[in-house]
Amino acid sequence: MAVRHAIQSGTCLITLDNPPVNVIGRAVRQGLLAALDAAEAAGVERVIVTGAGAAFSAGADATEFDGPPQPPHLPDLLVRLERLPSIAAINGTALGGGVEIALACRMRIAAPSVMLGLPEVTLGVVPGAGGTQRLPRIAGLAAAADLISEGRRFDAAEALRLGIIDAVADDPLAAALAVPEGDMDRHLAACDRPAPAADPAAIAAARARADKRARGQVAPQAAFDLVAATAEVPLAEGLTLERARFLDLRAGPQARALRHVFFAERAAAARARRFAVPPAPVASAIVVGGGTMGAGIAYALDGAGIAVTLVEADTAAADRARANIGRLFDDAVKRGKATAVEAEAGRARIAVAVGYGALPQADIAIEAVFENLAVKRQVFAALDSALPDSAILATNTSYLDPNAIFEGIRAPERCVGLHFFSPAHVMKLVEIVRAAGTSQATLATAFGLAARLGKLPVEAGVCDGFIGNRILTRYRQTCDVMLIEGALPWQVDRAMEAFGMAMGPYAVQDLSGLDIAFANRQRKNLRAALGVRYIPIADRMVEDLGRLGRKSGAGWYDHSEGAAPRPAPAVTPLIEAASVEASITRRVFDDAEIVDRALAAMIDEGARILGEGIARRPADIDLVMVHGYGFPRWRGGPMHHADGLGLGAVASRIRRFAVQDPLSWPAPDFIERLAAVGRTLADLDRDER
Ligand code: NAI
Repeated sequence: MAVRHAIQSGTCLITLDNPPVNVIGRAVRQGLLAALDAAEAAGVERVIVTGAGAAFSAGADATEFDGPPQPPHLPDLLVRLERLPSIAAINGTALGGGVEIALACRMRIAAPSVMLGLPEVTLGVVPGAGGTQRLPRIAGLAAAADLISEGRRFDAAEALRLGIIDAVADDPLAAALAVPEGDMDRHLAACDRPAPAADPAAIAAARARADKRARGQVAPQAAFDLVAATAEVPLAEGLTLERARFLDLRAGPQARALRHVFFAERAAAARARRFAVPPAPVASAIVVGGGTMGAGIAYALDGAGIAVTLVEADTAAADRARANIGRLFDDAVKRGKATAVEAEAGRARIAVAVGYGALPQADIAIEAVFENLAVKRQVFAALDSALPDSAILATNTSYLDPNAIFEGIRAPERCVGLHFFSPAHVMKLVEIVRAAGTSQATLATAFGLAARLGKLPVEAGVCDGFIGNRILTRYRQTCDVMLIEGALPWQVDRAMEAFGMAMGPYAVQDLSGLDIAFANRQRKNLRAALGVRYIPIADRMVEDLGRLGRKSGAGWYDHSEGAAPRPAPAVTPLIEAASVEASITRRVFDDAEIVDRALAAMIDEGARILGEGIARRPADIDLVMVHGYGFPRWRGGPMHHADGLGLGAVASRIRRFAVQDPLSWPAPDFIERLAAVGRTLADLDRDER
């Protein structure tokens, strides 16, 4: 039974019991209804609501959000609960609808370790069972506006300070049973409290913060409207407004996109458990190369309790690697994530070795040396001799072919790509690259390790750039074509940022350095490649102007210490000269055209990646773009976005581009085939489940 209730000595004890975290689905609502019927019929003096197990309630069941709401509805149940003399005994985590149940009680008592939150905006909705109306009446407008619009979690101490809970007790249920009768009367239900004082300044300040943090998102703004309304309209009216807004948002494109990403993340995290062979335990690891990536990977492994030995080629490099790792621990201390003593212990834990002579045995070795095939092959040959066949061998290469890197290695089934993102100890995404020999057992262990590191693993096959960097390359190439046809970098950036990208493509290049992509283009010799439309602008930025981005003070933008990047006057003539050389008459682009073309490129490349079997499902591509490349989460990723545009419409747009510029736009095969049979990319996700 999803909800248990028992009436004894005038008290009705209602226990939410829907393991693992008492999510509020239809069965729970039906159970609550039965409990309220019984409590009302018995005329009880007290109702106590608590949760079975470790949670109070983690909130609504988001899997129900795609269908029409099914009665009984939580808001109606809570209006009834609010009229009873009730106490929430918050034994564990309370989120969303869980908090809303508690807010409908007269009193709230929480265990000291409890975390609470109204995270609805992260799913593109507002609290829909009174949260926006009762919280301001209990904690005031300013606090409610912040907590609801940010969706952040807060602990019992903060909840007590804000007046959201009335008391903290180790055993909240015992404390609720022990509350004297007279005390109950001193606590008013939200419906009996006066409307909160209007606070337009606080709302305006919170709105301004949300404009920055959640640019483009509708749910936080709706939350402000609803919270502000509590000062103006009676509770019943506010609840009606809230319900309407909630249902409207729930069915809207942003909430659908956010749900898509949420479920894709859950599926990615669960993948480790779906292999026929269980992941092998990883207790010890070797990381080769202690530069930007290696140091971050070593730090992340250490943080997960794995014994790490870092290998460098010589003592000078080993000293630099130690310093790189030291900096990560220093940062942790600065950010209050570790004490100085813990950081010192961490530094001492990570062993740094020169060469492979005295390596300890390890369950896995992860290589993060220079992006150079010969160097990487030497590293794997050395690892092959130093470690037993049971050790997994992984490369963090971004663009090189793992099959070439692993050539000649004994037991190729244990070789795999683990493509972390920078900074490796922060970024959640890891592409797990299936090389020609990689076994299911190795994949399972790689997924298991990723889960242990708290990462988001996505499987990719071998191709140039795997999923993410391949789409990035195509996206940049498409933007470069627009430059030569008439757009300017800052216009492209502005358009893509207005669409919701965290940063425009040229601002990103300035940040990471133009030399990296330059070296990659040189390696592929694109200038001479057949069947590729070569745009010389980015190469000339590096070769002719030495503009490498922020690190050289000049890239697409001019950079100076402490000032925002400024569009660089020196760049425009270089772009215009390239147009003249290519006999292109420059024309005006509007922002919508830029966004349409750039997105079509991402979608087209994603579809090719699917068609070639590089990605297993469209949702994986979305995860990569959202978590690794700043694609707006609330748009769901390029594949989800493509379904929204309609695959038929996307295919005909790409066809049009292909007529104008066949070198940049091969025929949109895969999308066209899907569109022809009336299928969507979401259908493919369902097939894979
Ligand atoms: P880095 O230049 O910061 O570090 C490379 C490290 O490898 C240096 O510490 C160097 O001393 C060491 N090294 C070189 N040869 C070695 C050898 N034979 N034995 C042991 N150590 C050796 O480079 P970064 O940025 O850390 O990149 C490493 C790898 O990670 C590359 O394959 C790169 O493509 C990949 N990667 C880089 C990302 C980034 O954003 N920087 C993101 C994802 C992957």
